[in-house]
Amino acid sequence: MGALQAEHFRKIREAMDRGLLPQWVLTDPDVWALEQERVFPRTWQFLGHESEVPVPGAFVTRWMVHDPVLVVRGEDGEIRAFLNACPHRGTLLCTADAGTQAAFTCPYHGWTFDAQGALIGVALAHQVWGTELCRAEWGLKPIPRLERYQGLLFGTLDPAAPPLVEYLGAMTWYLDLLVGRSGGMEVWGPPHRWVVAGNWKLLYENFTGDPYHVQSTHRSTVELGITPQRVVRGWQVVLPHGHGINVTQYLEVPERPYQRTPEALWPRFREHLNPVQEELLRRAAVLVGGIFPTLSFVSPLHGTGEDLYNFLNLRVWRPLAPDRVEVWSWCLVDRAAPEAYKRAAYKAYVDSFGPSGTLEQDDTEMWARVMQASRGWMVRDKTLNYNNVINYLMGFGRVEPDPTFPGPGTAYPGFVDAVSRSTHRFWLHLLTDGAEEGSGEA
Ligand code: FES
Ligand SMILES: [Fe+2]
Repeated sequence: MGALQAEHFRKIREAMDRGLLPQWVLTDPDVWALEQERVFPRTWQFLGHESEVPVPGAFVTRWMVHDPVLVVRGEDGEIRAFLNACPHRGTLLCTADAGTQAAFTCPYHGWTFDAQGALIGVALAHQVWGTELCRAEWGLKPIPRLERYQGLLFGTLDPAAPPLVEYLGAMTWYLDLLVGRSGGMEVWGPPHRWVVAGNWKLLYENFTGDPYHVQSTHRSTVELGITPQRVVRGWQVVLPHGHGINVTQYLEVPERPYQRTPEALWPRFREHLNPVQEELLRRAAVLVGGIFPTLSFVSPLHGTGEDLYNFLNLRVWRPLAPDRVEVWSWCLVDRAAPEAYKRAAYKAYVDSFGPSGTLEQDDTEMWARVMQASRGWMVRDKTLNYNNVINYLMGFGRVEPDPTFPGPGTAYPGFVDAVSRSTHRFWLHLLTDGAEEGSGEA
């Protein structure tokens, strides 16, 4: 447990009970060490989308925090995920981001593995090896569990983790709406990657539980008329296991419904969604949320004037250190959309949430500022002598769930910090190895 004592966990819980969070949990090295042991390996983490590995031999390399992962489609059509390391002496095996090849050869001593992970080639096999090497025992090591939902691939390092659909809980209803609405999506372009200053929890909750920041952080986009302003109704939905989503809708069904997607897709929405989901999408402006711990998503409208486009941006907050995150960002589009729309939607993604996108730049600056103000002693002192807590009080003990919200989960109307508060509970539950209550339910 390192240097974290029961009293520190008690202080965190007591702060949470009052709608607060000690700011030192953003930078504390002992918290970070424990997160690597108890939070990331035990939860489901996003690895990619099946459209990224479309044919046998197609692969992508990914990271589950510090574990390198090779996701590859075998000759049999199955998608598998392996530790991207040669089992001989533990060398990082594949250094390409993506590609298609029948086999992977380790540069160190030349062992070769096929797309199913089997060891198929051993250098100087007959001169220097005999019966001591059983090839069947030295294939690539699979990631303990790989499961998918709506084409989204998730892995976990915990062989005893609950099934993915159980972990996602009611988030599946929203993933059906976001990813399954037209019968399937595809990744457009390779994922962007960049490194930012920030704590992963802060970045996760910026997307998952903080619509409040938009009016200030992204004010310029509103003033320039590049984000829609006629959003009149919103809910924040608390889901199990630290997941959450914010739904904003137009009060009236807009002239161009379904997030201004091309009309050719609308019959597909009616086909693939139930009537409640379809009605929600018909009025939807922005859907933004997250799957704990490191995946966030946003399905916005972006463009200029009437020229607004919709895309689904998925992003993994890969923590490198308590104050550094490598952002991985995918643009997904409806597979059935016209090619011209896909291209325009991708451009809207790059303009907004790509690494140099307007909204991205705004957020990056704020996250760096939180880190700049989190390194001093007044923040890091764990006694809480300096009242070094941050504020998640919005709606606390005041705003009640709205029973009229049509989707599953506990939906609070307007702006609240309910998702962040429930995320913190689940995080503490994992951090304390289950000693602290926190299913993440509202
Ligand atoms: S470490 Fe890979 S072949 Fe030796
Ligand atoms: Fe933002």
